[in-house]
Amino acid sequence: MFSKIIRRTVVSPALKESFAAEGTAIKAAGTWKSERQIISKQGSSIRVRKPCGTEINCVNFCANNYLGLSAHPDVVDGARAALESHGAGLSSVRFICGTQDIHLELEKRLAKLHGTDDAILYAACFDANAGIFEVILGKDDAVISDSLNHASIIDGIRLCKAQRKRYVHMDMSDLEAKLIETANCRRRLVVTDGVFSMDGDIAPLDEIKALCEKHDAMLMIDECHATGILGDKGRGTDELFGLHGQVDIINSTLGKALGGASGGYTAGPKEIVDLLRQKARPYLFSNTLAPPVVGAALSAIDLLETKPDAFIGEIQRKTKLFRSKMTAAGFDIMGKEHPISPVFIGDARLAAELADKLLDCGIFVIAFSYPVVPEGKARIRVQISAAHSDEQIDQTVNAFASCAKELNILP
Ligand SMILES: Cc1ncc(COP(=O)(O)O)c(C=O)c1O
Repeated sequence: MFSKIIRRTVVSPALKESFAAEGTAIKAAGTWKSERQIISKQGSSIRVRKPCGTEINCVNFCANNYLGLSAHPDVVDGARAALESHGAGLSSVRFICGTQDIHLELEKRLAKLHGTDDAILYAACFDANAGIFEVILGKDDAVISDSLNHASIIDGIRLCKAQRKRYVHMDMSDLEAKLIETANCRRRLVVTDGVFSMDGDIAPLDEIKALCEKHDAMLMIDECHATGILGDKGRGTDELFGLHGQVDIINSTLGKALGGASGGYTAGPKEIVDLLRQKARPYLFSNTLAPPVVGAALSAIDLLETKPDAFIGEIQRKTKLFRSKMTAAGFDIMGKEHPISPVFIGDARLAAELADKLLDCGIFVIAFSYPVVPEGKARIRVQISAAHSDEQIDQTVNAFASCAKELNILP
């Protein structure tokens, strides 16, 4: 009986061609993103298989592995122990039969880390950002967002019915103007990345917080590139500005400094977290975080809390070292004192050539160009890890200098 049904089982040649044409256009624009193949664990040294099939050892300067915990033995042990004790996964969402003791424990630890009442886990911070706005804001409300906020914040805002305002990147007078324009709204939420990942710059949280207080608005920060990195204890941008525990809502990730596996969360007041558990769609309709991921994150937090000097102290010292040596070598390093240390090149083609040359010298870095960053502002985004050795930093600075000279980027 099935043989009588004539169905096309694959995309038709004409449609395939139209998809391929879109891909060709991206390549022609020079913005095609190819993926390099890593055949080792994530770390400050990795093994890479080049497109030609050759395998090389590289020092890795482009991961969000800020504390070097992605393959840290304690973190791997934590993941393994949770795998043994709690299994590979829950085959369920949280509210059906997907909440284990370790999920509740991790939420408690994250709330404590951020000085908030409670926290709620998601499969990724992308989901935390996608879920929050439509839960806490309705048509009588407004959200006021920095123009360079992360894509997941932009997407999350699109899903809510609140009035949307964008203020010029880190421009406090524009932020205040938007707060004044929305004075009649029931609720207002100002949202900013704590650290902007393309430029490595840090939001002026003290000024933003003061404006939120003056205009009675809530404040939310995305701490993906700040948790585990900024402040003496690695609690984030709020700690750096002496505002720990004073930000209303914090969204962050377990996929960068805190072990690097995956997972995200919102930390905030109990009433908001309670509501998110009832209404946030990425929480309600997506699987529970896998136990090994939870175990890895718990071990990462243990390390962060018990050995701040070995991790926070080291990443801050190494960031200073890299930035000062690169500046002395004649490079323009963007951003503030953050391990994201973009090396400004300007021209997209030159930036890509420089990254390729560096790979040949065993330095794994990636060039970013338009549309990821503004046209004419191509850069190589270097990211420092607490796991880098001083020798690896020297090796990278020297390789940058000699490759840049060959390309006439440096005199
Ligand atoms: C600022 C910012 N927010 C959110 C995310 C999403 O985090 P996750 O990887 O946990 O989905 C990222 C990841 O790149 C990010 O950089």
